[in-house]
Amino acid sequence: MAQAEIGLIGLGVMGSNLALNIAEKGFKVAVYNRTRDVTHKFFNNAGKLAENIIPCDNLDELVAAIRPPRPIIILIKAGEPVDNEIRLLREKLSKNDIIIDSGNANFRDTMRRFKELEDSGLTYIGMGISGGEEGARHGPAIMVGGKEESYKRIEKILDAVAAKYKKEPCSAWLGENGAGHFVKTIHNGIEYADMQMISEVYGLMRDGLGMKAAEIAAVFKKWNTGRLNSYLIEITAEVLSVIDAKAKKPIVDVILDRAGQKGTGKWAVIEAQTMGVSASTIEAAVDARVLSSMKVDRTAAEKAYKITRKKISPKSRATFLRHLEAALYAGKIAAYAQGFAVMEQASNEFKWNLPLGTIAKIWRAGCIIRSQFLGLITQAFVKSGGKGNLLMAPAFMKMMKESHGSLRAVVAQAALVGAPAPALSNALSYFDTYRQGRGTANLIQAQRDFFGAHGFERIGEEGAFHGPWAGTE
Ligand code: 6PG
Repeated sequence: MAQAEIGLIGLGVMGSNLALNIAEKGFKVAVYNRTRDVTHKFFNNAGKLAENIIPCDNLDELVAAIRPPRPIIILIKAGEPVDNEIRLLREKLSKNDIIIDSGNANFRDTMRRFKELEDSGLTYIGMGISGGEEGARHGPAIMVGGKEESYKRIEKILDAVAAKYKKEPCSAWLGENGAGHFVKTIHNGIEYADMQMISEVYGLMRDGLGMKAAEIAAVFKKWNTGRLNSYLIEITAEVLSVIDAKAKKPIVDVILDRAGQKGTGKWAVIEAQTMGVSASTIEAAVDARVLSSMKVDRTAAEKAYKITRKKISPKSRATFLRHLEAALYAGKIAAYAQGFAVMEQASNEFKWNLPLGTIAKIWRAGCIIRSQFLGLITQAFVKSGGKGNLLMAPAFMKMMKESHGSLRAVVAQAALVGAPAPALSNALSYFDTYRQGRGTANLIQAQRDFFGAHGFERIGEEGAFHGPWAGTE
């Protein structure tokens, strides 16, 4: 049998689907899983695609099966397992072979691994892939970080397996070392914000307007035909329509209101904070997951406070639903503006030269946040040369001017009836703060100077000043 073009370690859900995708596109792929049975079961179930798959029982077999320089994708649990796998592979691989970590790695680990492999002659790629199981099988969005030459070796394979947006592959080399994993982290941060804002709007319909799951599903379905058209809105409508066979009622009504998280959203927020870039909408979404997990405390607090949830009684339900749609859109603009601002800053700090327009472009299909909206972001970055806050892009300014009133109406209503809307509220606060020339930090400066003699700046004057209170007991 001819040698494989690429290797893949880890035949879990993502790995096995990606391997089938590679094989289907006509590339020979050598696969290896720690448990031998998993490898053989995978091979035996691959049907016609098995002719492009070489099952390997150990790393020596895997390495021997691939044409050098050997690209090997690792798709295993992020963290220590990846370090262990690299250690094992390092002994077996030769100069110019390429280790590709495709898990949801923390980009700081990816940067460290680059450094550790620097003198080994091996090259390393940190590659974010998005789209879940379905995406891995039929076309994910692929975000690559590493040496451009190494990327060139696998470009053809990646372009073939990636999702296509109007025939353009949703895969790109985005920069050196940690760039790919960083961009994937921000993708996930935005994913958290999108999901949270959708669930807040769902909450306002369910608890505020007293709508049934099926009615809410119909609303999302309708919205999906308009400017909110996206994978997440589409699946929300679908999820809300499913009836649980056991309980014979909408499945969402029997699912516990407690969502887990694996860490990427949190990393996005930590990095934003470290760089001093505002990402409050994403942060609110991460925080909402934390609070969601405190089910016992929340239930006890509800009993202790006994504040009855009020209903929203709009003059017209249709008008309020229109506000909800526009609020979600405005919130989305703010969340994406923050996510892209974090990437712009990271690009400067890590000297990646991240192509923001290309990132928006490769997110248009395949990934979890894919949407029509990303096409508008792509266009905005084409016009701005890939720089600047989206809130200042003329097309987005127009959209924000049209929809911020609705965001305001929804956040105000939510506050009045006591329905939490943390991501939408933070999106609004971000917008209102960002567009305010004269804020209130003058008072913060004065307070800091008062208690700590930190000094303050004066309007229109150079230098640091102290107030008359300095030295006050
Ligand atoms: C994707 C998803 C994927 C995964 C996240 C979910 O882009 O395909 O983001 O990476 O679903 O890990 O993260 P949480 O478990 O933290 O929600």
